[in-house]
Amino acid sequence: MAKAVAHANIALVKYWGKRDAALNLPVAGSLSLTLDGLRTETTVERLGRGGEDEVRLNGELADAGARRRVQSFVDRVRAQASSQEAVRVESHNHFPTASGLASSASAFAALAGAACAAFGLERSEAELSVLARLGSGSAARSIFGGFARMQAGERADGQDAHAVPVASQIELGAVIGLVTGKAKAVGSTEGMNRTRETSPYDRAWIQTVERDLPAVEQALRSGDFDELARLTEGNCLAMHANGMAARPGLIYWAPATIALMHTVRSLRAGGVPTFFTIDAGPHVVAFCSPEAMAEIQSVFEKLEGVQEVRACRTGPGIQVEA
Ligand code: PMV
Repeated sequence: MAKAVAHANIALVKYWGKRDAALNLPVAGSLSLTLDGLRTETTVERLGRGGEDEVRLNGELADAGARRRVQSFVDRVRAQASSQEAVRVESHNHFPTASGLASSASAFAALAGAACAAFGLERSEAELSVLARLGSGSAARSIFGGFARMQAGERADGQDAHAVPVASQIELGAVIGLVTGKAKAVGSTEGMNRTRETSPYDRAWIQTVERDLPAVEQALRSGDFDELARLTEGNCLAMHANGMAARPGLIYWAPATIALMHTVRSLRAGGVPTFFTIDAGPHVVAFCSPEAMAEIQSVFEKLEGVQEVRACRTGPGIQVEA
């Protein structure tokens, strides 16, 4: 039996648009921070030929949709290993209860690591990142700890579309305000495709990402916190503006999402080093200097519509045990 542990990541420069839907190839790069508090642990056990795959998520048998997604991912690993053995996959998400948070990133990174190890495949981090991407685009970044940049790549087979680690003078924590609400209305794949097909702003969005990526890397390298704040918030708002301009428009925010954004900006105006980002859902992530985490957490906890607050530090890359 093989086991892998991976952590979720939150993007500062967002991935929103696929150039190839089947291979999860992004139109542009992206850049994220892996976080320690959001952990997935996955084991993969080979059951021999002729058996049936078993998939358990958080202790329960997976529903048909999740089971199919896991099986088709494991099929790729079986093909690489020239094996037809069935597997038992057990995955545990150590996430806050309200979730809707980047769970597919840590899930597919951990599954990539555990499945390769179970079948005896030795893979580099770049190769694991390519494999994880096939499960979920953002999972490619969770192979690495700290900051990671996803390369869009040029090849049609996607072998150059993987993440790489990024050096930084800036250490960030993240305080996540989980907003009350149901599971996200439109999943990321459908949302990305709809945006790409119908938003009049999509071309400008991709140009924005291509400008923001080197600028964010430069801000990290030179330790320019204010520039990092300006670029990250701008990139997040541009992604959401692009989605809102799709038809029908994507509105991921709830009232508390907007309250949290204003809160982060007024904290920053008061001298607290923090800035926000938001994924395809209502939750708000306040990136901040680690010293500011406790203050931001206590402010978030008092806001109406905030169900739960989770504070995270920089997280490690994937750990695999064969
Ligand atoms: O990995 P996916 O397909 O769930 O897409 C992630 C999309 C965002 O979280 C909104 C942005 C990102 O770069 O993580």
